[in-house]
Amino acid sequence: MKIYSLILIACLLLIIACGKDAKPPEYQWPIMAGFPKPQVPADNPMSEAKVMLGRKIFYDNALSFNQTQSCASCHQQAFAFAESRHTSTGATGQAHRRNALALVNVAYNKTLTWAHDGITSIEQQVLIPMFGEAPIELGITQHEETVLNRFKQGDYPALFSAAFPDESISFVTISQALASFVRSLISLDAPFDQYAYQGEDTAISEAAIRGMNLFFSEKLECHHCHGGFNFTQSTSHERQILDRRPFHNTGLYFTDSTKGYPSKDIGLAEVSEIMRDNGRFRAPTLRNIEVTAPYMHDGSITTLGEVLDFYAAGGRSLMQGEFVGDGRKNPLKSPFVRGFEMTEQDKQDLLAFLATLTDQTFLTNPKFGPPEQVK
Ligand code: HEC
Ligand code: HEC
Repeated sequence: MKIYSLILIACLLLIIACGKDAKPPEYQWPIMAGFPKPQVPADNPMSEAKVMLGRKIFYDNALSFNQTQSCASCHQQAFAFAESRHTSTGATGQAHRRNALALVNVAYNKTLTWAHDGITSIEQQVLIPMFGEAPIELGITQHEETVLNRFKQGDYPALFSAAFPDESISFVTISQALASFVRSLISLDAPFDQYAYQGEDTAISEAAIRGMNLFFSEKLECHHCHGGFNFTQSTSHERQILDRRPFHNTGLYFTDSTKGYPSKDIGLAEVSEIMRDNGRFRAPTLRNIEVTAPYMHDGSITTLGEVLDFYAAGGRSLMQGEFVGDGRKNPLKSPFVRGFEMTEQDKQDLLAFLATLTDQTFLTNPKFGPPEQVK
């Protein structure tokens, strides 16, 4: 008898031990062979269950205090998770000073937002729209309990326990699930990728090839700041840890009143408090750039053609309006934005090249769209 119970206990212990070791299947990144995988924080490993939960929360108006907005209000899939407004508007109607960033390969971004060198994890970043008060976006501050209770009902408890078996429903797990969904938004299947990485020589047009050669030329210097497979210098992944500060002043402004960028948004200098960071912003990825208009941190350039004119001119001179002044003469402008000659043909070729970075699979993938039932 005794020996049997001993064996029984031993077996039970073995089962428990094995159960603990049994890891959920490893998350499958939708990444072609050859591309590096993003780095993921050790305390929030990727799983399908978290991504599914994060997607549901991303599309759910329950996340704003007055149930009028979700993340998807400002980050819409058809626009590569940017939006067509110049600058965003929060749940109370308050204006944001910046243009909503596209959520494209955010998993590879070393730093988050247009101009901050201290926000380095998506978990950290998503707290800003949730709790930020200047401006108010989702407006959860002072409504924490009301908002959290909405996630303790309906399908949510089951989804949370699948995603976070040992944790309770909290803003920590909500931010971890949202970050996992954002990390899953990978776009590496554009015609350019078929051409450049899969050896399909006819995947892009002759015009696009000419545009590509201009883009990567020393004359235009685009690749200097928008380089690498993600078309941004602000990339880090399993094989590359970034050490430079990928923020630049592109000469958008040199206002007569401040002799710099408009005081409502001076870029990196606001957080670093270093004078020479005035007007420095992160060079964003150019993947899916065709669909994310308007452009720049304040949405102040309307079309891609105008962005090209802006670089060809070596910055922007504003003759009227609030911010009169010649950005081309901004002493803090990057030496890589020095202007170049661009024929109409060059411009069309560059536009054709930029259009090869549009990844239709990404823009229409139902896995990234709203879940069928959002309560
Ligand atoms: C009111 C509109 C609005 C809402 C709602 C909103 N965002 Fe944003 N989002 C923005 C703007 C504007 C930026 C750029 C902020 C900056 O640079 O300061 C941004 C930036 C981001 C970034 C940084 C991307 C990068 O490449 O650095 C992420 C990630 C993000 N948002 C995710 C979310 C998630 C997740 C939610 C829901 C919890 C959300 N956003 C809700 C407007 C919004
Ligand atoms: C010195 C670095 C640098 C160079 C060179 C450069 N860019 Fe940029 N680019 C940036 C930065 C920084 C921003 C964001 C500026 C801002 O919002 O104030 C940007 C923004 C853009 C945008 C808008 C992105 C968006 O999401 O709104 C496009 C398009 C673009 N660049 C294309 C190009 C092209 C094409 C070239 C070559 C002709 C080029 N860039 C050269 C740094 C650079």
